[in-house]
Amino acid sequence: MQLIDGKALSQTIKEEIAQEVEQIKKNGGKVPHLAAVLIGEDPASEVYVRNKVKSCEMVGFNSTLVRRDSSTTEEELLQIVEDLNNNDDIDGFIVQLPLPKHINEEKVTLAIDPRKDVDGFHPVNFGRMAQGLPCYLPATPFGILQMLERYNIEVSGKECVVLGRSNIVGTPASILLSRKAQPGNATVTLCHSRTKDLPKHTRNADILIVSLGIPEFVTADMVKEGAVVIDVGINRVEDASRKRGYRLAGDVKFDEVAPKCSYITPVPGGVGPMTVTSLIMNTLKSSKKEVYSS
Ligand code: GUN
Repeated sequence: MQLIDGKALSQTIKEEIAQEVEQIKKNGGKVPHLAAVLIGEDPASEVYVRNKVKSCEMVGFNSTLVRRDSSTTEEELLQIVEDLNNNDDIDGFIVQLPLPKHINEEKVTLAIDPRKDVDGFHPVNFGRMAQGLPCYLPATPFGILQMLERYNIEVSGKECVVLGRSNIVGTPASILLSRKAQPGNATVTLCHSRTKDLPKHTRNADILIVSLGIPEFVTADMVKEGAVVIDVGINRVEDASRKRGYRLAGDVKFDEVAPKCSYITPVPGGVGPMTVTSLIMNTLKSSKKEVYSS
């Protein structure tokens, strides 16, 4: 069994980007600039946004954090989005989800200019992804592809099973792995809450991608010997023995599943850091106008 070390890989990719940014600065080019909008006080979101800003600093990007409290209205947020759309110095921005209940997430996502949508959440980018056109790939599936590629894990022709059909992970991951591209060309099965006999499907997986948000859901009996397991879950599980009162657990019961795997991602330190790095990669692409030419 080999661990897919997302933390180390994300560090490597960020060092590569830092070198490129240094070169851009030397040549008097534009320094990439990412903005993040955080509404409210969701503790997990605070951690994610802090990591995003910290990663920007690490690679030499400019970063802007727009912070507002949970009483912010939808109208006010839409104005923030509009201002960021029109700010020529900002190459890309994200609005951290979830938003407070009184704000319509779909409306906010649609208001983001697709050219600055480095999360890849806008339907224009999603549609372009589905058709294999240049686009910003959604950060988590993009991170998963990077891990498979950099660890030289063969995907073509493999049975790939994805658990979870969210718009930001499961559904795009299933599309990307089945497309005619590298990595891709897998035979993909997308499983969800209505799937009958889930273990029958998971036991058939050469590559199993789990994004359910249910702590330690996947057990050893559900996994084929030699499978590659990618655990997207980051769940807070109560743990009185820890100072902070909780521990982080994935969607996979790591201790019993890991010995059966050829490769597995740990939680934390697996998919999570790669997601942040994908965002940085998308922002660099935006700054270089690699996806949209204007
Ligand atoms: N909430 C959980 N994951 C993400 C993400 O990748 N982007 C944004 N904007 N919000 C999130």
